[in-house]
Amino acid sequence: MTELSSYKKIHVDASRSYDIIIGDGVLAHLGGYVRSLLGECRLALLTDSNVDALHGDKIVSLLTAAGYDVCKYVIPAGEESKCAENMLAFLDFMARNRLTRSDALIAFGGGVVGDLGGLSASLYLRGIAYIQVPTTLLAAVDSSVGGKTAIDIPAGKNLVGAFYQPHLVCCDTTLMDTLPTDIYRDGCAEVIKYGAILDAALYEKLQTPPFDRIDVVARCVEIKRDVVQEDEFDNGKRGLLNFGHTFGHAIEKLSNFTVSHGAAVAKGMMIAAEFAPLCGLADVGKELEALLERYNFNLECPYTAEQLYDVILSDKKRRGGNLTLVLPRAIGNCELVTMPVEEVLVKLKQIL
Ligand code: GLY
Repeated sequence: MTELSSYKKIHVDASRSYDIIIGDGVLAHLGGYVRSLLGECRLALLTDSNVDALHGDKIVSLLTAAGYDVCKYVIPAGEESKCAENMLAFLDFMARNRLTRSDALIAFGGGVVGDLGGLSASLYLRGIAYIQVPTTLLAAVDSSVGGKTAIDIPAGKNLVGAFYQPHLVCCDTTLMDTLPTDIYRDGCAEVIKYGAILDAALYEKLQTPPFDRIDVVARCVEIKRDVVQEDEFDNGKRGLLNFGHTFGHAIEKLSNFTVSHGAAVAKGMMIAAEFAPLCGLADVGKELEALLERYNFNLECPYTAEQLYDVILSDKKRRGGNLTLVLPRAIGNCELVTMPVEEVLVKLKQIL
């Protein structure tokens, strides 16, 4: 077993302080981490059908060998699972298994499991401890860190949620070895986002894929940690993490979620890059396009300006008649630009 000291450890100081441990094989130490953090307790393990088939037995036997009683709940893989019905059924499962306030939940999977697990942890008995064990690159660099939890409702994605920080994030980078190419690529869009918004040196490192996974995941997590520490509740700087997301979410929704999150964010970042010069900011479109194409992203937007605008009107980031977009000043330096929603339509029509 690898020495604990060889893993990367990133500490977050937010409304709860916690560590994010990153490295190949760190899952083998999960039981030990749980014991030092929470001591004796029972564990509810939430995962999805894909992750369960690949790694379910392994995590249960590791935790059992560490002396934990684990009750496992499996949801079907896919975004449709991030719904109120599944969350209520999982809460009921925990109650029927008599989990108490001193017990804990482990969310073992990608963004859907992490978001639904985190929200369930915040609600069950008014809040129990939870640990994120991300299995996708996207969850490792984004959704498992920072305490945003949510489910989708028919009116939109992530519309019901809470800020609820985990007690630990345990990111075993070997779990990404089994990811299908398109799911891994989804995470690459978020990684490129971090370089584009706040770190030109990271952006440069990404020019020649494949990148060093542990180093890059750790750098993205550090960037997110710094942003979250400054603006945990998303009233300002945290908005930078939404680069490409306003347009990306609209594309995802219009496609009925047949375009994945990362693929949609890549398209959304391109639209934002083309939007920037129309607001007097830098034109990094060609540079960004070249990098995204190196990761085999399809950057076509199959929707009209009016179609995107219609969805953007119900974006949860809209405040009154204004919308704040993340636009590049340069690679590694994005800013938040607030404008009347009507102006978004006018400019989108010049792009699409
Ligand atoms: N995924 C964006 C955020 O955590 O704020």
